[in-house]
Amino acid sequence: MKSLIVYCSYEGNTEQLANYIKEEIGADILKLVVEKEKKIKSLFRFIWGGIQVYMTKEPKLREYNVDLSKYDNIIIGRPCWFETFAPPIRTFLSNNKLKNKNIYLFVMVET
Ligand SMILES: Cc1cc2nc3c(=O)[nH]c(=O)nc-3n(C[C@H](O)[C@H](O)[C@H](O)COP(=O)(O)O)c2cc1C
Repeated sequence: MKSLIVYCSYEGNTEQLANYIKEEIGADILKLVVEKEKKIKSLFRFIWGGIQVYMTKEPKLREYNVDLSKYDNIIIGRPCWFETFAPPIRTFLSNNKLKNKNIYLFVMVET
């Protein structure tokens, strides 16, 4: 059974866990990166993130080349943004059909 970890990470926490799982189970990995990513610090990050979440934004992602048909298991990793998923995951789910896959999810919260 082949597994693909698909994740996005703004501050690196999800990325760390994604890489750990990759090593543990021998999965392939795909990092979703927003094409025009803004690195905003402090409180403005939350305001900007809140706008993205509540407007259900689907930011354009940097091009990736992965053949999802090769995978049985799709492991989605994402930071928790206002109790829901960060926007790049929304884009990924809109752009790809994950029918007949086993879907797993892990979520990073505030530590
Ligand atoms: C815009 C924004 C909204 C967030 N909302 C939540 C939240 O609702 N609950 C929570 O536990 N953490 C929240 N966090 C914190 C992140 O989920 C947490 O720091 C996570 O570990 C970040 O993962 P990352 O390093 O992969 O980006 C939020 C962070 C940001 C930037």
